[in-house]
Amino acid sequence: MNKKVLVVGGGGREHAIVDALSRSSRVSKIYCAPGNAGIARQAECVPIKDNDVEALVAFARKEGIDLTVVGPEVSLAAGIADAFQAAGLRIFGPSRAAATIESSKDFAKALMAKYNVPTAAYKTFSDYAEALAYVKAGKFPVVLKYDGLAAGKGVVIPENLQDAEATLKDMLLDDKFGHGKVVVEEFLTGPEFSFMCFVNGKEVYPMTLSQDHKRAFEGDKGPNTGGMGAYSPVPIIPAEDEEFALENIMKPVAAAMVAEGCPFKGVLYGGLMKTPDGVKVIEFNCRFGDPETEVVLPRLQSDIYDIFSAIVDDTPMPEIKWQKEATLGFVLASKGYPQSYEKGFEIKGFENALSDPSVRIYHMGTSERDGRIVTSGGRVLMVLASGADLKEAQAKALVAADKIECENLFKRRDIGWRVL
Ligand code: AMP
Ligand code: GLY
Repeated sequence: MNKKVLVVGGGGREHAIVDALSRSSRVSKIYCAPGNAGIARQAECVPIKDNDVEALVAFARKEGIDLTVVGPEVSLAAGIADAFQAAGLRIFGPSRAAATIESSKDFAKALMAKYNVPTAAYKTFSDYAEALAYVKAGKFPVVLKYDGLAAGKGVVIPENLQDAEATLKDMLLDDKFGHGKVVVEEFLTGPEFSFMCFVNGKEVYPMTLSQDHKRAFEGDKGPNTGGMGAYSPVPIIPAEDEEFALENIMKPVAAAMVAEGCPFKGVLYGGLMKTPDGVKVIEFNCRFGDPETEVVLPRLQSDIYDIFSAIVDDTPMPEIKWQKEATLGFVLASKGYPQSYEKGFEIKGFENALSDPSVRIYHMGTSERDGRIVTSGGRVLMVLASGADLKEAQAKALVAADKIECENLFKRRDIGWRVL
């Protein structure tokens, strides 16, 4: 078949989506807006920003795009799915109302409370003095979450009252993240894992599990980042926990969204934790995770265009099959990330790194300058490999990642340490 697809976004997640679509027998042409230097080798990149909804609608109309697939939460929160639907265009991604499950922590917490979905105890505040009094009366560490979108930086976990006071001041008095409320949450412990599901309103189709590494440095130290590496599957999470999460978290939440009048259609991402009291929700995202998608989609054996179509058109879902082989990947990030960093450093060694056919490289933040690939973001590349098990995947991916030459990149070498 000759389907034309547009992927919205320009990071590693979108590169993995483009790569999966390029394996589809239905798809003949892939566009990506805005894409990046790596995506440009597999798709035609168009210079439209991911949140420029009007221009994206106009482009899809003009090119006769059959299906648009949305990566970033900012596009969804900007109402891209609603605008495409209003224009009669097929799009994979939730409505703005359904995307609130990610864009407002308070909405997600209230939904979980109302429908008895297991999560940390919490209270939401818009008043600084009230929030501080509540924190003073509680235990440390405490979890403080800015209510709106904050690119993964809106969660702070102070160990003492002094730090908590400073964070509450940033969030509620100085509006450092924007003008919004704060969710004060009980601190939970245990391994975290990512459970992404294709959701068609009420029906929930699970993907294979993955695990991200949010902290910047080895041993899970340093500041939180967008994610420094990932792997799939997750052997420390037994099948009964996965079953519990599907039946008691993902399915009830999809049903709750229907009951609340904002049915969710797209990828519902459960950020879950296996606590001593069972699996609980840390957060929901309204889209594919990044970097989880980079290790999950290479394991997908089914045609991803058919999966997207089944959700978009409300038709029966084809069987979703996963490879037995494990995948594990290292993120190469600009020195200084997640704080400030410089851009424009040349990257070499791609061919050398890709000499092993089980290795893939997804570009997260690169651009092309005079025929050379240069860094253009905080997270720059994801170098991953597949193997018979995670140990083999890790060894191959690390050998490949070490062949990438760039003076301004760093990586964690311990991706997968919890299971290896
Ligand atoms: P979030 O953006 O909500 O996923 O939070 C970012 C990170 O903060 C999570 O991946 C957890 O590692 C940590 N975190 C968030 N909420 C809690 C909690 N209630 N207890 C312990 N850690 C948490
Ligand atoms: N890896 C976490 C996220 O995509 O938000």
